[in-house]
Amino acid sequence: MKKVVVLTGAGISAESGIQTFRDANGLWANYAIEEVATPEAWKKNPIVVQSFYNERRKQIAAASPNQAHIYFAALEQHYDVQIITQNIDDLHERAGSTKILHLHGNIRFAKSSGPQPDKRFYPIVGDEIQPDAVCDDGYPLRPHVVWFGEEVPELERAARFCQQADILLVVGTSLQVYPAASLAFLAPEAALKVVLDPDCERLEIGDEFVKLPYTAVEGVQVLDRLLAQLARD
Ligand SMILES: NC(=O)c1ccc[n+]([C@@H]2O[C@H](COP(=O)([O-])OP(=O)(O)OC[C@H]3O[C@@H](n4cnc5c(N)ncnc54)[C@H](O)[C@@H]3O)[C@@H](O)[C@H]2O)c1
Repeated sequence: MKKVVVLTGAGISAESGIQTFRDANGLWANYAIEEVATPEAWKKNPIVVQSFYNERRKQIAAASPNQAHIYFAALEQHYDVQIITQNIDDLHERAGSTKILHLHGNIRFAKSSGPQPDKRFYPIVGDEIQPDAVCDDGYPLRPHVVWFGEEVPELERAARFCQQADILLVVGTSLQVYPAASLAFLAPEAALKVVLDPDCERLEIGDEFVKLPYTAVEGVQVLDRLLAQLARD
C-alpha cells in the first residue's frame, strides 16, 4: 500500500466550528499568546491558563468531525495513512483515523507540570482539569499541549513519516509555526505533494506542490478525483 502522510493544521477543523489561529477572526485575535500558551504564563497564572484550555476543551467536545476528517479516515481503505496533526483537538480520532500523531499534544489529556515530569498522559474525565488536581509525582496537572517555546517531542518521529511518504497532503495550516512547518518540506522528491487551503497562494511553498485553493470540506472532493486519476495512470 502506498504511504500517505496528511499534515493538518487548525484549518481542517474550521468547518467543525473550531476557530483557527491566525485568521482575522481567529482565536488569538481575542487572546494574547503569552497570557495563555507559554510556560511563563503557566508560572504566572495557572488558573487563567487552565480555564482557557478548559474552555477550549468544552468547545471541542461540542464540535463534530467534518467531511474532511471523515475523508482522511476513509482513505485508510486504499492507502497506509498517517495523520500528523498540529491540532490539539480530537476530531481525527472521532472521525475514525487509526494512525494519528499529535505534534502539539491532545487537549483530552493532562500531564505533570513538574521539572522532570513523568512521561505519562492522563485522560481527562469530563471537560475540566480541576485547579487542585495533582499528578502522581506531586506536581499540578497541566494540559497535554506543547506551548510556545517548548520542545516538540514527537518531531523526529513525524519527520521519519514524511521522509517515507509516497503522497504528502498538507491541509489547513499557515505553515507559520516552526518546527512543525518544516515537515512539509521533508517528503522525497518523487512524492506527490498537495496543499489544500483556501489561502494556499499566500503560503510559502514551492511549485512542487499541487495547490488546491478550497476549504477542507470542498477540497477533499477535488483531492479525491486527483488521487483516483493518479491510481489509474
Ligand atoms: N483545532 C485545533 O486544535 C487548533 C485550533 C487553533 C490553533 N491550534 C494550534 O495553533 C497552531 C496554528 O498553526 P496552524 O498552521 O495549524 O493554524 P493557522 O491558524 O496558523 O492557519 C490556519 C490555516 O487554515 C486555513 N484555513 C482557514 N479556513 C480553512 C478551511 N475551512 N479549510 C482549510 N483551511 C482553512 C487558513 O488559510 C490558514 O492557512 C497549531 O500549532 C495548532 O496546535 C489548534
